[in-house]
Amino acid sequence: MKGKFFVFVALPYANSGLHLGHIAGAYLPYDVFRRYLKLRGFEVISASGSDEHGTPITIKAIREGISPEDIAKKYHKINLEIFNRMSIEFDAYIETSSKLHKEITADFLKVLMANGYIFEAEMTQPFCVKENLFLADRYVKGKCPNCGYESATGDQCENCGQTLEPNELINPICIFDQTTPEFRQTKHLFFKLSKLQDELLKYIESRDAWRQNVLNYSRNFISKGLKDRPITRDLSWGVDAPFEGYEQKKVYVWFEALIGYLTGVSEVLGSQKEALALWKDKEIKHYHFMGKDNIAFHSIIWPGMLLAHGDMTLPYYIAANEYLNFQGEKFSKSKGTGFSMLQMLEKYKAEYIRFGVLYNLPEDHDSDFSIEEFQNRVNTELIDKFGNFVNRALILAFKKGTVTADQIAQNDLDLEAERTIGNSISSMINEMNSVHIRNAFRVWLDLAYFGNSYVTKRKPWEACKKDDANCNAAIYTGAKLVFALAVLGQIFLPDTSKKILSWLGYEHPVEISEGLNFPVLKLTTKPEKLFEKIEDKELNLKLQIARVEGVTDHPNAERLYLLDLDLGDSKRRIVSGIKNSYSKDALIGKNIVVVTNLKQAEIRGEKSYGMLLAAEDENGIHLVIAPDSASIGEEVKIGDMQITSTEISIEEFRKFSIKTVRSDSCTVPALFLDDRQLFLEIQNGKLVLDGSPKEGLRVK
Ligand code: MF3
Ligand code: ZN
Repeated sequence: MKGKFFVFVALPYANSGLHLGHIAGAYLPYDVFRRYLKLRGFEVISASGSDEHGTPITIKAIREGISPEDIAKKYHKINLEIFNRMSIEFDAYIETSSKLHKEITADFLKVLMANGYIFEAEMTQPFCVKENLFLADRYVKGKCPNCGYESATGDQCENCGQTLEPNELINPICIFDQTTPEFRQTKHLFFKLSKLQDELLKYIESRDAWRQNVLNYSRNFISKGLKDRPITRDLSWGVDAPFEGYEQKKVYVWFEALIGYLTGVSEVLGSQKEALALWKDKEIKHYHFMGKDNIAFHSIIWPGMLLAHGDMTLPYYIAANEYLNFQGEKFSKSKGTGFSMLQMLEKYKAEYIRFGVLYNLPEDHDSDFSIEEFQNRVNTELIDKFGNFVNRALILAFKKGTVTADQIAQNDLDLEAERTIGNSISSMINEMNSVHIRNAFRVWLDLAYFGNSYVTKRKPWEACKKDDANCNAAIYTGAKLVFALAVLGQIFLPDTSKKILSWLGYEHPVEISEGLNFPVLKLTTKPEKLFEKIEDKELNLKLQIARVEGVTDHPNAERLYLLDLDLGDSKRRIVSGIKNSYSKDALIGKNIVVVTNLKQAEIRGEKSYGMLLAAEDENGIHLVIAPDSASIGEEVKIGDMQITSTEISIEEFRKFSIKTVRSDSCTVPALFLDDRQLFLEIQNGKLVLDGSPKEGLRVK
């Protein structure tokens, strides 16, 4: 491999923050590959950006009652922050709503038009009379003509997978106002993809180095015959179509988002002309990273657009990963499965996340991510094996001082280490050249394991009872293993590697090459501990102070009250069985503690949004109460635990063991976790059990 590269990763929709599935599927592999090429000394331009148009964003905007522009801005910023904290870098990270992108898209379309690849045709589209707008396919719902599923959308039935046209739906309705749309004639521009069938087939067939999933998908797609595709839409949010009669329409989001790659390179070079010139340079290899749902757009549509533009370089390699699941389920923001990246980053160091994701990269099959396994791997493999080895080897080296290559006499173990270093570098280069990032990571990790066992076997502390060439060799070789790990590790764990390299006296990135040159060992600074172990300090139990505002009898249950609570910034109602112990008057104005991340329940026909904490003994029920000084809505602290508030069921709640304990002549609640006793605390004052019952009662 030699020369120049473009490295691209699909532009994420700016309608939500990225989750770990996106990072594993596309963005981290992209970053690792990009770093690799640069460290091999190649010229690289990398780009991506926010895909800011399209239905995902407009739907979100309507739901949140703000403009699509504000949605896009918000998530563009969030995603940039995620990339920044994850050390995922780009030469350009564009926004598709930018002026530059609009200009470049317009120019691109004009070329396609001039080359005869764009034509106009009439089509019928659903039109919502009430909202006075044409509806995108996904804005129409109805019964699937194929399987009878009731809420198929106008593009596809999510039940049977059938692709649909909006007019095929039985009883179609507009998803915004549930009215029945009219089908009206409207004219659109079409891209003559059918004309490129043969050329694209030839292209796909020539890509034998592509991964099987990408080839299969693309072959299958093309064998069904390529259809001309409408590339404008009746919308108000998007890129203008630069033709007369199209002032009210916008370019289809996918069509312009793909052009985002050209915009990105233009931004890096400060010139569209130069970017186009580079696209004609067939020596430049274009690598594209994406999730598997993006394959056809990159293996067929984008190459088709480039062919239509004329003599442009087509993608050289398409790396489409499979999915990462979260503890057996698909990542889904809407269902609350998995953590958002920002939540992850609150809890774990970015390099731990990079390590955990690389360990489980869903390269050729789906893989699963579980928090427990992740923490375990980081603790036992990254920290115990890699971190420990680096630390042991470098502390010895630091004590030793300077060692040059001519002061050493290597024994068999040292020579084996030298060979292992050489082999690891070659296999890693091979794997990376084939974009097998998971395998490359394994090679690296195996080298760390090797290093660990090398030190154990070589026992430098014994070799160094005498200060001679044998001692020098043991220390030099150990440090060289660390050096190799740091050099190769620059693509996986850039910050950690940089730190190690700087201890070894290298202030700049070190090229990855077959012959690793390590002429002299000289530590300038004392190495510190690289990592802290992850301790599980998380508790999914949200307790808040609430003031009782109103009490009414439950209409269908003798022993139940309906309590109306004030939580400061919100109000909620709970159903509670404390009627036998508390009168209404005694309750009004009391500050109590409520579990607020409990799934809502229906108790004898009344909805309950939470549960209060109390204990019971032979005298009746004792509420957990807070003094008047407590602030309404305040979150209760539980020892030093980090509180999360994912919804829990009553069964999950019951697994927590909260009990009464005596403290300073009061009875207080405490959570028992493993062998620890954690107090429930608030800022001003103290939570106590009303009536000071005895110790050891269960609080529920
Ligand atoms: N926004 C699309 C998605 O998240 C990907 C667009 S890739 C592009 O699925 F190249 F077209 F921008
Ligand atoms: Zn169906």
